[in-house]
Amino acid sequence: MKGRVEVIIGAQWGDEGKGRVVDALGAKVDIFARYQGGANAGHTVIVEGQKYVFHLLPSGMLYPCKICIIGNGVVIDPEQLLKELKDLQDQGKDRARLVISGAAHVVMPYHKVLDKAQEELRGKGRKIGTTGRGIGPAYVDKYSRCGIRVEDLLDGDVLREKLEYNLDEKNTYLSKIYGEEPLPFHEMYSIALSWGKSLAPYVGDASLIIDEALREGKGVLFEGAQGTLLDIDHGTYPYVTSSSPVAAGGCVGLGVGPSMVGRVIGVVKAYCTRVGEGPFPTEDCGDEGNKLREKGAEFGATTGRPRRCGWLDLVALRYAVRVNGISSIALTKLDVLTGQERIPVCTSYMVEGQDEPHFPCALQRLEKASPHYEYLEGWHEDIASCTSYEQLPPQARKYVEHIESATGVPVNLIGVGPGRDQTILRNF
Ligand code: IMP
Repeated sequence: MKGRVEVIIGAQWGDEGKGRVVDALGAKVDIFARYQGGANAGHTVIVEGQKYVFHLLPSGMLYPCKICIIGNGVVIDPEQLLKELKDLQDQGKDRARLVISGAAHVVMPYHKVLDKAQEELRGKGRKIGTTGRGIGPAYVDKYSRCGIRVEDLLDGDVLREKLEYNLDEKNTYLSKIYGEEPLPFHEMYSIALSWGKSLAPYVGDASLIIDEALREGKGVLFEGAQGTLLDIDHGTYPYVTSSSPVAAGGCVGLGVGPSMVGRVIGVVKAYCTRVGEGPFPTEDCGDEGNKLREKGAEFGATTGRPRRCGWLDLVALRYAVRVNGISSIALTKLDVLTGQERIPVCTSYMVEGQDEPHFPCALQRLEKASPHYEYLEGWHEDIASCTSYEQLPPQARKYVEHIESATGVPVNLIGVGPGRDQTILRNF
């Protein structure tokens, strides 16, 4: 019997509530696997009234007897990872077995210094608004083939050779271009060696473990970080992250063939948010946007930055359905829209006087896009304790069904509050 891979991806600009959808599927899953990004992510899971925020650990860590994998496509900040692990261990909640791919790249201290220095140099007009976690510079090293991988931390000689090369290069950039102090070798080398010692028990072959599990008929969940519109290829470049959050990134970032993927679940927030710079056609910079931010507690889980807020964008969502092959939608935070008299939903864009039904790939066109809204009737009833689809007010159901007919994809999960039990499942 062959097992099945399900991929959970963010269909917008990240922060759609992927952690809680992963959690809702948890009982059926044997392996939870992260495939890209790094500590720029912030996955919030609320269990038994307690809130957990994971930046690097897969959201399945709270499940007993499961395997949680950090794949080769992730860039790992060992300091952050070890801290997250220790926090969980201190609470007796490190219930799953963690496996880290030796081929995952390491975010080194110089990556974080470079990330901040590069943002500074870009100046106001060209800032990306990165999380400052060293993600971009770590992926640059990966692709320029000088990066340090987790497996290198386990071998003092290899680590020394690679770190000397990297530090020489980075210190030149830091001092000559960015006017920063050079970073000393010895301290960094001994910290990196100690990371290796701490991580060694977790290092394993992620691809092989997943393959064996699938042969045994087990369920594997690929857990994407960030969102489609932050994808390095398919997002609003250059205002994107440096990895591939789209579903196909899961195969590359874990070493699994695409024929193993069954369902692709797109997590969609009932409205839109974005952190950092870049185009956001349905952004509402007025009172209504502020109301969404307050009610939806839209502040970054990683940086605490207030998120930009706006309305559901069906043009962008149809695009996300296309580039990910989304076959199931998980709609989160529907309760945040309660009390809204009428709810704007963007059905197409106007670009230079012309109707544009498709998401423009070119940034120059997207920046000129203004939303064309359809207004759906709102509801006033509190939906936070609804446990079935039928209990939702008819207007809320209409909102859900509008999304289904605009995308051609069923909405199989609806979040009506932050708790684990505030989830309505429809053939999920
Ligand atoms: P970086 O990933 O730190 O390089 O940041 C690049 C862009 O992606 C910035 O606009 C960030 O705000 C955004 N970003 C990165 N991670 C997340 C996330 O988990 N949620 C939402 N936005 C993110």
